[in-house]
Amino acid sequence: MKPTVNGSFHNRVNNDNEGLEEIGLLNTGLVFNNNYDNWRFHRKFYTKVMMSPSLIKQSVIVVRNSFMEMEKYWNDLGEDTIIEFNHWMKRYFFDTIFIISTNNRAYALANYYNKVTKNGKLSLPESVLKESNTFIEAINVVAQSLQYFYILPRKVLYLPIIKRYTQYLKGRVYWVRNNVNNIIKSRREEISKTPIDQKLKSDILTMFLTVNTERDITERIADDIHDEPMSDKDVQRNFIELMGAGIDTSSNSLCFLVDFLENNPKAKQRMIEEIERVLGKDPNSSFTFEDLSKLEYVEAVIKESSRIRSVIPLVFKTNSVPEVVGSYRWSKNTYFGLNFGAIQKQKSFWKDPEKFNPDRFMDNPDSKSKVYMFGGGLRICPGRNLAMMGLKATLVMLYRKYDIELLGPLKEHIGMLRTCDELKVKLRKRKNVNI
Ligand code: HEM
Repeated sequence: MKPTVNGSFHNRVNNDNEGLEEIGLLNTGLVFNNNYDNWRFHRKFYTKVMMSPSLIKQSVIVVRNSFMEMEKYWNDLGEDTIIEFNHWMKRYFFDTIFIISTNNRAYALANYYNKVTKNGKLSLPESVLKESNTFIEAINVVAQSLQYFYILPRKVLYLPIIKRYTQYLKGRVYWVRNNVNNIIKSRREEISKTPIDQKLKSDILTMFLTVNTERDITERIADDIHDEPMSDKDVQRNFIELMGAGIDTSSNSLCFLVDFLENNPKAKQRMIEEIERVLGKDPNSSFTFEDLSKLEYVEAVIKESSRIRSVIPLVFKTNSVPEVVGSYRWSKNTYFGLNFGAIQKQKSFWKDPEKFNPDRFMDNPDSKSKVYMFGGGLRICPGRNLAMMGLKATLVMLYRKYDIELLGPLKEHIGMLRTCDELKVKLRKRKNVNI
């Protein structure tokens, strides 16, 4: 986890991974890129774009607008409706990340509202909804199929019983690529038609397409040394990766947070008090990125939830040269699993490790760095600032306005990802609160 340039534990996968090779995900983009120079080239774009303060600041507005849209649907459904919180969160983060990435709407929330409502459906053109539904489902399938291709060798992928499924997944991956190519093409046209003195849209896609060109809209960063633009193929791979990496991680985290807070009323109360102290008591008042940065207890709640129920409980690294670890000599290309789920509950380091206690981070702020919510080292999550802002803003908007009633235990599934498969709630506006 040390941030060692060109270190021997840089890769997550070996170059002989047949499954990832089969769907063209090896040595491209960031997540499974073993070519250090090429990874670094992409990573610099990410750093410039995703860590740009102006992007995070304008994303606060996008998150607020998406939340307000979701609230409108909840309001129309009525307070007695059972809200399948995990499904709503997935659509909410899909819409949010899609708008931050493209400045266009994906209509995931609208689609879901139309599916669950018994009142009148939204009058959006059927073709728009159908197209967006297929896109959302395909991105989901692609994100979920990564584990499948990561683990299975080619001869297993094409065994008679599972061959059809493999081909279905591959088909979805190619479908998404074609559609993202179309999005890129039309954005390129839009950019070329925009007069040079007119400001371009400032979303991730436009930033990826223009960075290091004369239309560059990103802010300069200190170690900004490369000057080549990104090719369309690279933009496509990175765009799909960020949709795949950002949506499930954020939506599952939010479900675990709500479950912890509802089962720990004291922590919930303390969090609400901090929110009201920093942002005021009006649940509709707007807030900025700077306001969110002052919410230390909210951050402690997020860290504590991730410590106990990490949404990525296991990260793999492989060694590119023989290494000695734990007094044993390991040949190169050995897979090492970093079991965050267990490390973060070590009794020798954490007092009462199973207890949900965000105060531990208020008493000892240094221990925050011992929670590997976003991994570590050079490959630490590049979307961490965006993700943290999204989680904080959502908790703020939820808890300063609603009382939440859990309607049964949360159901989860733990693989390489920890997913929330069911969280049913009822939402009631707190007294004296109007939407
Ligand atoms: C709560 C939300 C999130 C969590 C918990 C999370 C967690 C992680 C973790 C644990 C890693 C592996 C780091 C390592 O190997 O040490 C990672 C990598 C990554 N994440 Fe996130 N992430 C989140 C949100 C996002 C978002 C919003 C984006 C983009 C929009 C994103 C993009 C990525 C990418 C591209 C990588 C691969 C980085 C590389 O290999 O260089 N993540 N994330």
